[in-house]
Amino acid sequence: MTGHVITIAQQKGGSGKTTVSANLAVGFLRQGQKVAIVDIDPQGSLGRWFMTRVDTQAGPVENFEFATSSAWGITYEVRKLCDSHDIVIIDTPPKADSDLRPALRVADLVVVPVSVSHVDLWATEGVLDLARREGKEAMIVLNRARKNTRLGSDVAQAADKLLARIARTTLANRVVYAEALGQGRGAAEGRKTPAQAEVDALTAEVAEVLANG
Ligand SMILES: Nc1ncnc2c1ncn2[C@@H]1O[C@H](COP(=O)(O)OP(=O)(O)O)[C@@H](O)[C@H]1O
Ligand SMILES: [Mg+2]
Repeated sequence: MTGHVITIAQQKGGSGKTTVSANLAVGFLRQGQKVAIVDIDPQGSLGRWFMTRVDTQAGPVENFEFATSSAWGITYEVRKLCDSHDIVIIDTPPKADSDLRPALRVADLVVVPVSVSHVDLWATEGVLDLARREGKEAMIVLNRARKNTRLGSDVAQAADKLLARIARTTLANRVVYAEALGQGRGAAEGRKTPAQAEVDALTAEVAEVLANG
């Protein structure tokens, strides 16, 4: 097996890196894929999410593995995980500096969550630049979107000018994303909800990019 590697990166803290990491992981599990997540953020939020999931049996953990790694150790860790998983997702600290390079270098796709605000958008160029320098495809995911707001359409337009791919699927600002993260669940798990539709659509979109480049 040679898994695909997705690195979730964005200089701005609170943009939704960990949220997108956890939910994409669950999205791919829901597709029947074997998934590994790696937390290289010393804050360790994704690890806590996974441990909560295991301890409280909040969701399936079959075909699901978790690892931590240093920023520079990621190449080795990912090589190992790719042998036995379809998808490897790397959650990173809020940085866009040389520490991030190894995690970008191993990626097949860099996913950049942008919480819908101009401040977040301004923080995005750094990581897009780094990804470009490594020759990596990057995809912006607009997060915490609020329907029909001026800010939402302004940010979407400004994102367009960054010359990066922008996911058709946006994640809305929903309490369930915050709740699920604290409970070790994915927002898509359980009954049919708008969040489930968003996560499944985003997963399908990411899978399509991975398949077609
Ligand atoms: N789409 C969303 N709707 C509601 N809350 C969100 C959403 N995305 C993220 N959050 C919340 O925002 C905070 C920061 O998100 P997080 O994923 O931890 O960001 P990062 O990992 O980039 O620092 C968390 O409390 C999270 O639950
Ligand atoms: Mg985080």
